[in-house]
Amino acid sequence: MTSDWKPSADDLESITAAKEAFKHGNTNDDVIKFYSEWVKEGKYQKDTEPERYRAHILACENIETYYPGNKDKVKVIDIGAGTGRVAVELMKKGFKLMDALEPTTEMLDEAKKMDLYTSYINLGIGADRLPIDDNTYDLAIVSGAMGEGHIPCEALHEMARIVRPGGIISISMREEFLDSCADYRGRLEPLMKKMEQDGEWKLVSREIRPNYYCGKPGLVYRYSPS
Ligand SMILES: C[S@@+](CC[C@H](N)C(=O)[O-])C[C@H]1O[C@@H](n2cnc3c(N)ncnc32)[C@H](O)[C@@H]1O
Repeated sequence: MTSDWKPSADDLESITAAKEAFKHGNTNDDVIKFYSEWVKEGKYQKDTEPERYRAHILACENIETYYPGNKDKVKVIDIGAGTGRVAVELMKKGFKLMDALEPTTEMLDEAKKMDLYTSYINLGIGADRLPIDDNTYDLAIVSGAMGEGHIPCEALHEMARIVRPGGIISISMREEFLDSCADYRGRLEPLMKKMEQDGEWKLVSREIRPNYYCGKPGLVYRYSPS
């Protein structure tokens, strides 16, 4: 956390909820149950307003530069789409063909209200094969959906499978989760590197960015499937 960051009362409420969502020992079922409550009465939306939460902004930052042609033809999957914040960001940049993959029905119901996605897939990503063909998408965005009990390491293979060679996978997550998340500690980045060695994908960029969530830094990875 930056030393000069002072939480407001709203920040403290958001931090309390996020602590529960990313609590040590959470299973994916715990996480889904938690989001199904957090989203009620606009609480998740308020707790993740851009003055506190910028995962979606960072995951989408400059992403248009990889698609110099018609952005309205680029097929996008928003993995862990939540209430659809990524779709709002991408629409501003001219992307139109977006699908949402999201395991929490109540979050997806909220995203449906904005009517920005083409398909709403009520599933999570993990080690199992999704009902999506190889190389279906040009771009995958993963914003804020990595952490304890959320997307497991093994899901990286599925991401690389459903995005076409030369496409982009953009992942934003809290930097501290590399170490604090039991599944990722000593595993996430070694797996990312191994996938490069095995020819599954290539690293495009890895950046540490400030103010990802309530003064905490984020990591933004961009990979391109091979
Ligand atoms: C902090 S929210 C982020 C939502 C949205 N991407 C955003 O930036 O506002 C994390 C989301 O990840 C979803 N999630 C949890 N486990 C997941 C999994 N295995 N696969 C995909 N999404 C998952 C949750 O249901 C929740 O909607």
